[in-house]
Amino acid sequence: MFQLSEEHLAVREAARNFAQNELKPGVIERDSKMQYPYEQVRKMAELGFMGMMVSPEYGGGGMDSLSYVIAMEEISKVDSSCSVIMSVNNSLVCWGIETFGNEEQKRKYLPKLASGEWIGSFCLSEPEAGSDATSQRTTAVDMGDYYLLNGTKNWITNGGTSKVHLVIAQTDVDKGHRGINVLIVETDWEGVTIGAKEDKLGIRASDTHTIMYNDVKVPKANRIGEDGFGFKFAMKTLSGGRIGIAAQALGIAAGAYELSVAYSKEREAFGKPISQHQAIAFKIADMATEIEAARLLVYRAAAMKDLGQNYDQAAAMAKLYASEVAMRHTVEAVQIHGGYGFVKEYHVERLMRDAKITQIYEGTSEVQRIVISRNVLNGELYVPMV
Ligand code: CAA
Repeated sequence: MFQLSEEHLAVREAARNFAQNELKPGVIERDSKMQYPYEQVRKMAELGFMGMMVSPEYGGGGMDSLSYVIAMEEISKVDSSCSVIMSVNNSLVCWGIETFGNEEQKRKYLPKLASGEWIGSFCLSEPEAGSDATSQRTTAVDMGDYYLLNGTKNWITNGGTSKVHLVIAQTDVDKGHRGINVLIVETDWEGVTIGAKEDKLGIRASDTHTIMYNDVKVPKANRIGEDGFGFKFAMKTLSGGRIGIAAQALGIAAGAYELSVAYSKEREAFGKPISQHQAIAFKIADMATEIEAARLLVYRAAAMKDLGQNYDQAAAMAKLYASEVAMRHTVEAVQIHGGYGFVKEYHVERLMRDAKITQIYEGTSEVQRIVISRNVLNGELYVPMV
């Protein structure tokens, strides 16, 4: 169904070398101190990781989704703060503008975003609108040639560093989801306020903020798509985003697995390496099997996207399964490491903390189950990729 090319293998090698050599040395300190990885993001940009799928015409790498998930996996094995910054910029912001924006919007924003000169944020969640994404309270009132934007957005990844926001807002409440728009907002415009940085359980080096919009004038030219397209934009864009987060979850699980295999061969108990005890060997066998199954789901969703097939269900399945595998097996990785697993130096406690967010953002596991079950129960029975 998918064959890794020389190019895919080269992407894997480049991402792996970067993650192991340049991200690993400072990852514990950045996590402990909630230090944003400025230098590391700059290097990711130099390596082309910030706009991997954007067409070269707009300054991107022109790569396929499979290359992107391969890179996401390797970077997430080490540093999910870096990979979430990369994921939001690639899958949500760049992809959203390139796929649904007009020529002027693409020319204005993509070269800066794809090169990493600017970072983008996707602003959907609100204090009272998370899984129920149609309940937007942020308003974009039509004032003729501009929208007047007012409201508050929560949990915004890249919130402290981004230059561009894609803001989902309600223009006509009577029209329900058909009254929602998506606007491109620049963060230095009057009325945009960046709230405090969140102190989080995991992905602690990424900057997550509340954002306030107070009478921000957004030119009509910055609306993406037709009037009322905002909710479908969000759903379609999040579907691709879920493939990226599934790849992040896969990387977290695979990172914990690789550390566990190495540790179990070195650590001795009762006269032999713990890998020789069946209690540990069976855990390793389960990890290997479930991580490979998650990888197949992630690659499959990416390959379907590359083939132009409908990938909504495949993306939801990949994210649901990979995030549950990440949570389950990072807990097991800590168990395999015993007391060492409970301290920062051995990395697995951080991977366990980072795993949790993959079951929450870009749609909780419950939201993925809603997407999958609706597809199946509405008669669109699971159709394998052709
Ligand atoms: N593609 C295109 N259109 C879609 C679609 C898709 N994938 N999914 C839904 N739609 C359309 C539907 O066809 C429907 O349109 P019509 O009425 O014209 O037919 C419309 O959107 C409404 O669809 P639903 O009735 O299914 O909507 P719903 O209110 O029942 O919600 C939901 C469904 C799946 C729960 C959705 O609200 C959802 O995905 N919620 C989760 C939101 C989310 O993922 N938030 C993440 C925030 S961003 C983030 O986390 C980024 C970060 O920082 C890392």
